[in-house]
Formats: sequence, structure tokens, C-alpha cells
Amino acid sequence: MSSPSSSESWHKLFQHYEQLKSRDQRIDALFAADPERFQHFSLQICEILLDYSKNLVTEDTLNLLFKLAREAKLEAAIKAMFRGDNINNTEGREALHIALRTHLPDADPQFNAQVNATLEKIKGFVARVHSGQWTGCTGKSIKSVVNIGIGGSDLGPAMVTEALRHKHVDQLQCYFVSNVDPVHMKQTLASLDPETTLFIVASKSFSTLETHQNAAYARRWFLSHCSDESQVAKHFVAVSANVAKAEEFGIDPSNIFPLWDWVGGRYSLWSAIGLPIALAVGMAEFEQLLSGARTIDEHFANTPLEENIPVIMGLLAIWNCNFLGASSQAILPYSQALHLFPAFLQQLEMESLGKSVKADGSPVTMATGPIVWGSSGTNGQHSFHQLLHQGTHLVPADFIAIVEPQDAHDAEQHKHLLANCFSQSQALMTGKSAAEAAAELEAQGVSSAQASKLAQHKKIPGNKPSTTLIMQQLSAKNLGSLIAIYEHKVFVESVLWGINAFDQWGVELGKQLGVKLFDALDNESATTEYDASTNGLINHCK
Ligand code: F6P
Repeated sequence: MSSPSSSESWHKLFQHYEQLKSRDQRIDALFAADPERFQHFSLQICEILLDYSKNLVTEDTLNLLFKLAREAKLEAAIKAMFRGDNINNTEGREALHIALRTHLPDADPQFNAQVNATLEKIKGFVARVHSGQWTGCTGKSIKSVVNIGIGGSDLGPAMVTEALRHKHVDQLQCYFVSNVDPVHMKQTLASLDPETTLFIVASKSFSTLETHQNAAYARRWFLSHCSDESQVAKHFVAVSANVAKAEEFGIDPSNIFPLWDWVGGRYSLWSAIGLPIALAVGMAEFEQLLSGARTIDEHFANTPLEENIPVIMGLLAIWNCNFLGASSQAILPYSQALHLFPAFLQQLEMESLGKSVKADGSPVTMATGPIVWGSSGTNGQHSFHQLLHQGTHLVPADFIAIVEPQDAHDAEQHKHLLANCFSQSQALMTGKSAAEAAAELEAQGVSSAQASKLAQHKKIPGNKPSTTLIMQQLSAKNLGSLIAIYEHKVFVESVLWGINAFDQWGVELGKQLGVKLFDALDNESATTEYDASTNGLINHCK
């Protein structure tokens, strides 16, 4: 597989980057040179605006990036995904999460049929729980839902359920337990009533240790209140591709919601893995979430690269990572409701792009997926933004903002949120020169000698790239679009780097070793089997 870094466009991009560097190109100077820069470097789709004008890019940069994308056959790769080709080559599978929300005329019709049947099953189940028709062991209706899952079987549904809290139905409370630390389950169960609690055991494989342990914990808790094993079926349902194992656990086969090999864990919130979302907000809102993603699927599949939002975001990520040298990417939602979005994106981006071999097994010759991190604004401003502004690392930032407050009564305070969001991207771009800092100090009465000394600490270099995505409101539809934008952005990066975004072999080793070390901990005699540090830690605990 030829490397993009050996292509002509890559070479030209590198030369172009060297030119920008040699003339010390500043982003704010690009605005001065083009008063229409915002119009030229922003795009809108439905209720989402992408402003990428605060990146260190010119028309030339983008044209070269589009050329690079064409050389990497991005358009053909997008078609292959939508056609249902086996693009997850190391697992011999399609990556058809898009079929969960978009009708794919060229894909195997069985996929569409399976998706529709499962949506109907979810619909029926949600209606029965909401209406009180589904009852627990003592005939009471369900009041609490606990999703037991980890990774893709937790992060996506937990993030969306949290983001759409303002849309929750009144009669249900949703909880998510993922960590094998028993404290997570124990604390969650502390306030719950077993007679009115429903557990969703969400695991594509139904063999993930954490989920298995937590499901067994929940089952023991339930049976300690209701000793009749046959009642387990009324309080436990499952979402899994492994029906046999779910049945073995005691789940009624009619309450097992299917999932398929062709849906990757981190891309699965659109499937029955989204069951807790549908229970929390209702089926109509869940369908809105799917329709928001569908809008982006259609946009991604049918829009020229030059106006294609996920393509542009993916190419900017390549530019920032491989040319500007950024090894990290901050995700900064200025929205408390989206506080779990950075954690969700960590799995989506880092599990998909944290690879050092290409799809054909040959080593990559350039940096791939950056470290993704972040938290909600304005909280981050009072902790890690210091490093963004004055640290030695270049950290591009994605700001995510929402125009409308959730409650019209909060409009005034919401403006402070927006003002802070926009002022941070402005500050990252413009910074503050030593002369400006000294002048400010002198205006406050500081002596000029002291001012010029302090100015060295107060100056902020600026010229830090950022991208802003603004949604009109935090609706299920817009949220679906936002997630799909990032899913496709990740795909674009993977194509440009030539890697498979849909496998995750790196997590397997830890799983294998974890099982072995459990045996060593469980066994009474001191262990000498491993390296001295691991032996020492195990024996210390014993
Ligand atoms: O940790 C790796 C992983 O395989 C993730 O990719 C996946 O989302 C998670 O484990 C959970 O897997 P499962 O749904 O099979 O329990």
C-alpha cells in the first residue's frame, strides 16, 4: 500500500507549510487580508454551522488537501462504505452503522430488514415500559433503568441520554454502570428498588468481563430481594449479537435485542444499544436522533469534497497533526449537557485511529490519531486552558456551542456561556503581545521596568488553531447530526492515513493478561510467574 506521505500532494503540502512557517503566517493576519474569511471558511447544514476560519489554512492549503484526498481515493472509499464492502478488512466485515439510520440501496437488503425489525421491537418495548404494561415481579411498573455495558455499549448511550436530559420522560430514571469496580454498581443500586428496576445488559459479544461481572452483581442483588429465579426475566433484558450467551444468563429470548457483526461497538448507539436512550426520551426523539445522522450520511455521501463538512474536518485534522505537528486535540463543548461528549469522542477517535500499521499490515510512516481529550466549558477555562494558551504544546481545539438556551428564562446567563466560548477561540488565535501586556500594566500604574518584566509572563503567543461547531438548539436531531459528523470525520482521517478505523486489536492484550492476573490474585500462594514489578504488586495485595 503506497503511503500518502510519498504522494505529490503531500510533498506540495509540506512545501506549502514551510512557506507559511517561513513567513511566520498568523491566522489573525489572514482575517485582516480577507474580510470575508468567515463566509469563505464556514459551512452550514440544517441547524449546524461549521466555522473553520480560525485554522492556519489558506485557499491553497485547502486545495492541496482536497487534492491529497482525491489521490487517496477518498470518494471511492466513501462509496465502498455506503455499498457495504468489507472495509473492516482485519475482521472481514462491513462497517455498516450507517445502515442503522439510512436506507442503503446498494447494501444487502437483509441489513435493512434486520434494522427495521429491531426498531419495531424497540418501539414496542418502550411503549410497554412507558405505559406501565411491562411490570416487575410484584406487578409494579418500571421506574428505573440501569444500562450495564462498557466502551461502545456505554459511552454513546450514556452521552446521548445525558445530553437529552431536558427531553426525558417523567416516569423513568436512567443509570449507566460500566466500571468493574464494584463501587460503581453498589452506589447505583443504593437508591434503587428491585421491584421497579429494569436492567439492560448491553454487550455485543456478551463476553466482556466488566459487563459480565456487573450483570452478575445486579442479578445477585435482585435475587437477594426476590428469590424466584423465574422473575429475572422481568427485570433483565439484553442487547447482544451473542444470543446463546444472553440466554445462558437467564434472559428470556424474546427480550434479547439483536446486534450484528457489521456494527462496531463505538458506532452502535444507533442500534438497540440505544435502547436506554429510547427509554429515557421516547421513541419519537430516538427517531429524531437517527434522522439527524441520516442528514449527515446523505451530505457526506453526496456532497463534493470542497463543501463536505466531515471531509473538511478530517482534512483539517490531518493538516494539524501531520504538518503543524499537533499530537493532541481538545474537545470543548460549551454545554453542560454535552459534558460526556469528550469521553465519547475519545473512544470513537482513539480506538479508531490509534493505529501504527496500515490496513495492509505495513507500518505507517507518519503520525496517526492524536490524543483526544477535553471537558465542558467554561469549567476547563479555570483549569487546563492555561496550557492551551501558554504551554509549549500545540493543541488544536474544537469548540461546540448551542445558540439557544434550554430555558428561555436563562437567556441572559446563556449569553455568558457563548461569550466565553467565542472569547476563548479568539484568545487562542490573537493572543497578546508583550507590548500590549506591558501597556496594560503601565495603564494600571505599574512602573515601566516592572511592566516589561511582567509582560514576559503575561504575553500569549496566539496563532492556535480552532474550529467551532454551533447548533441552533440541543435537539435530538442536531445531536444525531453532530455525532455522525465526527464518525465520518474519523473515517476520512483513516482513509488518508490508510488505516482500518473499525478494528481495535490493541485492547485485546490487556483483556488476556487481566484474566491471568486475576488467577494469580485469587490463588493463595505468592506469585513468581511474572516480572518483578507485577509479582510485587500482586503479592503486596495478598
Ligand atoms: O474494549 C474494547 C471493546 O471491544 C470496545 O470496542 C467495545 O465497545 C467494548 O469493548 C464493549 O464490548 P461489548 O459490547 O462486546 O461488551
